Amino acid sequence: MSRPNVLVTRPIMDGPLGRLQERCDVTVHENDFGIPRDELLQVVAGRDALITMLTEKVDAELLAAAGPQLTIVANHAVGFDNVDVAACTAAGVLATNTPDVLTETTADTAFALLLAAARRVGEGERFLRAGTPWIWGPLMMLGQDVHHKTMGIVGFGRIGQAVARRANGFGMTVLYSDAVQLPPEVEAETGARRVELDDLLTQADFISIHTNLTPETRHLFSTEQFRRMKPSAVLVNTSRGPVVDEAALADALETGEIFGAGLDVFEKEPEVTAKLLGLENAVVIPHLGSATVDTRDAMGHLAVDNVFAALDGTRPPTLLNPDAFTG
Ligand code: DGY
Repeated sequence: MSRPNVLVTRPIMDGPLGRLQERCDVTVHENDFGIPRDELLQVVAGRDALITMLTEKVDAELLAAAGPQLTIVANHAVGFDNVDVAACTAAGVLATNTPDVLTETTADTAFALLLAAARRVGEGERFLRAGTPWIWGPLMMLGQDVHHKTMGIVGFGRIGQAVARRANGFGMTVLYSDAVQLPPEVEAETGARRVELDDLLTQADFISIHTNLTPETRHLFSTEQFRRMKPSAVLVNTSRGPVVDEAALADALETGEIFGAGLDVFEKEPEVTAKLLGLENAVVIPHLGSATVDTRDAMGHLAVDNVFAALDGTRPPTLLNPDAFTG
């Protein structure tokens, strides 16, 4: 029997890649800047499985270019706004993502950004590295306290709840806004209370965004929302860039409408609005939310588990389109 033919669109960790190579003929696209679309449409042809990244658009065109033998698109990310799941279902292709394994790591990143923005860590580092003359002073580079303040979490899924647990450790009051009210046991365990988004905006000292990117959440944060926030407030985004209107955020940071922002994701990634890069009160990192050795290993293994299940005709562990599963 011939070995399955798999394309991995970016290098992944050695452990999961090795498992994949034991069973399949694997092509890994090595270019650090990703596969240009034209090339991607060519190299998917004839593959039985694809492991894709959030940088690749998986749509009807790509599925058609792959051909009828394609069984699965295993996205190496929890977010799957790059994948047209309905098109996968229509083509009879299974679609999967990598939830759970990155929850705690992404929550750590959100908290790192929150603390860095509140306590001006990036600014202080730049100041020292620039060789600026200084001496300790009582009014020097004052930030915002985090402990015992109010945390507002927008989107209260797995990662939002993990952020809430961290906030509890800082003695914070935790509010959340979500389309659904979470079960009482989840609210009790996370110490979080559901409020309307408008109330969260005015009451929270820190706002951390954990919604999926959908047409409804695009620019959920724009001029009006920044106006409602406290001037001492800090906004953190580790979800998807387009949830925040980046130009409006840069204006709000520049005019002092809000105190600071910590951003892991950007509206037109990998571009970052130039004004943000010039603002001391914006902490910006290049989409590192899940970027740890252990977590990237776990994400790779989960993607490979999904591929193997699909090749075996069994249900992949983190299937996004059960309607496409006929096994
Ligand atoms: C995801 O998984 O969606 C992150 O954005 C990248 O790890």
